[in-house]
Amino acid sequence: MGTIDTQLPGFRRRRMLQGLAAVAGSAAGLVRAAPAGLTIRLSHVVAEDTPKGLAANRFQALVDARSGGRIAVVVYPDARLYGDHDEMQALQLGAVEMLAPSLSKFGRIGFPEFELFDLPYLFPDVANVRRITQGALGQRMLDRLGRQRLVGLGFMDNGFKHMSANRPLLEPAHFEGLRMRIQASRVIAAQMRALGARPVTLAFSETRRALAAGVVDGTENPVSNFWTQGMHEVQTDLSLTQHAYLGYAFVANQRFWESMSAPDRTLVSEALREALYFGNQIADTQNDKALTALREAGGTRIHVPAPAQIALMRKAVEPVHTGLARRIGTAWLDDARKAIDGG
Ligand code: LMR
Repeated sequence: MGTIDTQLPGFRRRRMLQGLAAVAGSAAGLVRAAPAGLTIRLSHVVAEDTPKGLAANRFQALVDARSGGRIAVVVYPDARLYGDHDEMQALQLGAVEMLAPSLSKFGRIGFPEFELFDLPYLFPDVANVRRITQGALGQRMLDRLGRQRLVGLGFMDNGFKHMSANRPLLEPAHFEGLRMRIQASRVIAAQMRALGARPVTLAFSETRRALAAGVVDGTENPVSNFWTQGMHEVQTDLSLTQHAYLGYAFVANQRFWESMSAPDRTLVSEALREALYFGNQIADTQNDKALTALREAGGTRIHVPAPAQIALMRKAVEPVHTGLARRIGTAWLDDARKAIDGG
């Protein structure tokens, strides 16, 4: 079964992006007309009250304070400017200067090794993810983004994903025949198929509406995204499966990055480093807060899988690890496994 991708047809997208580039060009012109100032547009798809949203706002505040207002970071949350369909192209064309996509969204622009983070049950905890993202292997992954004229600036955690639908999803039999919204990752598509569901690739910003309309039956996300998107209003059950990780890479347009003076680049890099550190510190608590809010709101049935059910889930998705190894790259996977096991 194939995934369904709701992207705009190629030519409509190209025309739209040409429009975006023209707007970006004139915006850049305006910035050039005011040589003392610099504007960094940072677009992302989630709500402000999430780990990523709060880290982006912290970055904005740090840059503002340290540059005395000379460098303005303008954050566009909630896919208000660009969403999953067009944000990568917008960045490459210079219509925005920075993005913070989930790691699952780099595979389709030529970096399938990023999909290793999507492998179900690969990471026992976030500390093990960080052995990669905060180490030499993560840096190698970021460095490669230069091939697409992107600068990889750093990683940030959200946390572990859970399953939602209008029924509990605690073991493979519960997934039978369900259409599950996923991000555009082959690994996640294979995971859903291995569980017996049909993966449907949809932009994050379209997910709640698609769930409400019954276009899809369920989805997966950390609780902070589930709660802030109001997905609990359109899904009756959340199953705390913790089956896979969700994290981000903050990236910049290479031409823009190199156009900055060395001191500005240092100021911006330092501010981002601190903002990502902050984001990593609050990720867990934001997800816990969202779970508490969800419990208090009532109306959502929250389930915890039993050990035997987790064992069934793990077994069902085992073939994803071998089946997708070639796509991810066996060398990347070997290095990742060494980092996980070897610490
Ligand atoms: C998703 O599309 O489900 C997530 O990647 C959204 C995000 O950026 O957290």
